[in-house]
Amino acid sequence: MASGLDGRSVIVTGAGSGIGRAVALAFAAEGARVVVADLNADGAAAVVKEIEQAGGTAVAVTGDLSEQAVVDQVTATAVERFGGVDVLVNNAGIMDRMSAPADVSDAEWERVIRVNLTAPFLLTRAVLPHMLEAGRGAIVNTASEAGLRGSAAGAAYTASKHGVVGLTKNLAVMYRKQGIRANAIAPGGTATSIVVDADQEAHGPAALGPHFVNIGRVAQPEEQAAAIVFLASDAASNINGVVLPVDDGWSAV
Ligand SMILES: NC(=O)c1ccc[n+]([C@@H]2O[C@H](COP(=O)([O-])OP(=O)(O)OC[C@H]3O[C@@H](n4cnc5c(N)ncnc54)[C@H](O)[C@@H]3O)[C@@H](O)[C@H]2O)c1
Repeated sequence: MASGLDGRSVIVTGAGSGIGRAVALAFAAEGARVVVADLNADGAAAVVKEIEQAGGTAVAVTGDLSEQAVVDQVTATAVERFGGVDVLVNNAGIMDRMSAPADVSDAEWERVIRVNLTAPFLLTRAVLPHMLEAGRGAIVNTASEAGLRGSAAGAAYTASKHGVVGLTKNLAVMYRKQGIRANAIAPGGTATSIVVDADQEAHGPAALGPHFVNIGRVAQPEEQAAAIVFLASDAASNINGVVLPVDDGWSAV
């Protein structure tokens, strides 16, 4: 089945590096027009250049997606430049310090929840009127292995990614009659530059026990991107509300 993505308007957050960069390049290769949204201006500009050099269409929007003004700018750019929002990929995220609940500071909790959960909610809320008007849309969220189990990260990151899973399922149910699908991927370990600012002595991966040992092969960002593009495409037209692990079987252990 054709992907149906040619000419579509796609927003990818965190598209300046890692998984998001691979996602933006993969959508562009399908002929989609991509809003490359990221806090990192240099990273976003480099990805737009890469897409344009390959003959594709992309535009960068730089800023902190936990701020409503940036969310509004991202949405307006997709609507004004590409005529609407067909696909939203909420991918930007940050790690926590692997802190156990008693050791999470207010700052760690609030920043991780704000970036990983509130920002995807804000952008989803902003694009929904455009998807509803068009009568179609696909949302794909980057959750995590930590959205499926309690032994993959600290308390804040784990709670934020379980929240992303809940938001995804609620979207799927609320808008299934309006032609909007919502799904998520749950990546296992993936070779990106995401920073684990952990206090290894107190809680690092070793404290999380045997499940962390069974992490499996570390994925390349392109392997995550392929799953996201599939879930957004017409090939997944009856797939709604799933959380797809892309983790070399880690979640099956
Ligand atoms: N790498 C892994 O092992 C792994 C595993 C599971 C889930 N994930 C998830 O994958 C997603 C992508 O992470 P990655 O591994 O590619 O890391 P990455 O650090 O390479 O990419 C994340 C991007 O998000 C951007 N970003 C961070 N905060 C932002 C904000 N407030 N506003 C706008 N942009 C912001 C960063 O600038 C960066 O370009 C994240 O949601 C992460 O939680 C990663």
